Amino acid sequence: MAIQLGDIAPDFTADTTEGTISFHDWKGISWAVLFSHPKDFTPVCTTELGYTARLAEDFAQRNVKVIGLSCDSVQDHLAWSQDIEDTQGIRPNFPMIADPNRTVANLYDMIHPNASDTMTVRSVFVIAPDNTVKLTITYPASTGRNFDEVLRVIDSLQLTATKKVATPVNWKQGDDVIILPALSNEEAAELFPNGWDEQKPYLRVVSQ
Ligand code: BEZ
Repeated sequence: MAIQLGDIAPDFTADTTEGTISFHDWKGISWAVLFSHPKDFTPVCTTELGYTARLAEDFAQRNVKVIGLSCDSVQDHLAWSQDIEDTQGIRPNFPMIADPNRTVANLYDMIHPNASDTMTVRSVFVIAPDNTVKLTITYPASTGRNFDEVLRVIDSLQLTATKKVATPVNWKQGDDVIILPALSNEEAAELFPNGWDEQKPYLRVVSQ
């Protein structure tokens, strides 16, 4: 069965470009982004991995570790890293899992046989410090992902993990947020003493 939100991210041990990794040990109590790409030495993937490498500081600020995966070998990953540096100006600065036997890909349902028998789709899993899965995204091979959107969702996940709010459409860090409908007005008044904009009883907007 596919991995669902709230599930514990399956643990695994795998070879990577940074040595053998036991996923839960490597991740520790950080957040993690585990993402798959269809194949090494392919154009869209080349741009995605270069861009993700450029976001290293943004991920670090959010206490997020990043790890990639494809069903290619460590040797291919390393050779391709040079191409990524040549074309994107930066090499991957995060481990890339080599999964030639598709062990991890199968564990995380990253192969969708009706799309391709052999290549992983573009999966993204955002995993919280307690190892629960907080976000899953699946893109087809033909469409590169938006890693700024991954950061935006992480900002929302990290905010809503500790505050009794949700984030509205197209929200970004610093924008107004919405008080959780489960909170009564009396409870909300304690948490938000400066008040809120009550547009409907269930739509109470408050500054972040
Ligand atoms: C790409 O990364 O460019 C790609 C990979 C697999 C199929 C199509 C495109």
